[in-house]
Amino acid sequence: MPEPLLEFRGVRAAYEEVEVIHGIDARFEEGVVTAVLGANGAGKSTLLALAAGIMAPSEGNVRFAGEEVRVGSTSSLARRGLCLIPEGRGVFPNLTVRENLWVMTHGGSGRRHVERCAFERFPLLEERRDQPAGTMSGGEQQMLALARAMATRPRLLLLDELSMGLAPLVVDELYKHVVHLASEGITVVVVEQFARTALTVASSAMVMANGRIVQTGTAKDVESVLHSAYLGTGQPPQADSPAH
Ligand SMILES: Nc1ncnc2c1ncn2[C@@H]1O[C@H](COP(=O)(O)OP(=O)(O)O)[C@@H](O)[C@H]1O
Ligand SMILES: [Mg+2]
Repeated sequence: MPEPLLEFRGVRAAYEEVEVIHGIDARFEEGVVTAVLGANGAGKSTLLALAAGIMAPSEGNVRFAGEEVRVGSTSSLARRGLCLIPEGRGVFPNLTVRENLWVMTHGGSGRRHVERCAFERFPLLEERRDQPAGTMSGGEQQMLALARAMATRPRLLLLDELSMGLAPLVVDELYKHVVHLASEGITVVVVEQFARTALTVASSAMVMANGRIVQTGTAKDVESVLHSAYLGTGQPPQADSPAH
């Protein structure tokens, strides 16, 4: 079996002394879109923080592209192709659309190139190019966040609650872009509280509850065992079935 692009091995993690991730083993294969689902507080964002070198495991380790992820190495991880769009969009509200894109470059021709790529992919952003990002709709801000992420030419894109607070039609539109990115070979991890759209674009899926992975399989398998109530309550759908 080839090494996965991202791998968690026996990972535990805590805030102060309080452990919130209780031993996670997970593999994210290159070129695959994986949905990570779970109720509020399940540990999804913490999982991404561990992947992105924002937080250190208290036990175990996380590997990206064959190397252990170390805290404080975020710029090196970015150079190696890891890109996180955090919960809450990750755009600078007071900067214009273009300025938000420019932040991802080192000036000069880089700016024009990044703008051209972003506007080809998201023509709507061109219309809004001189508008402060914070005055755009939530869906438009997420488009900008995706456009910014693409400027880094990521190999692995981690999306935390892309659909948060957005209307279903807007979410569908954003996920079409995610499908397109995936079709270009980018490995994507979509973290969502609600399964609906994430499972339609993912081929692989995991369900987290209380700091553990309680289901893992193809998106279809996971969908078939998901109780609609489950994601709302954080209660496992069956008797406890930890993934390890
Ligand atoms: N900065 C923090 N300090 C202390 N506890 C936190 C912090 N962030 C998250 N937690 C706790 O860690 C657990 C997992 O949170 P999180 O990873 O944000 O879950 P999710 O993204 O699935 O909603 C929750 O119990 C949450 O209260
Ligand atoms: Mg979260």
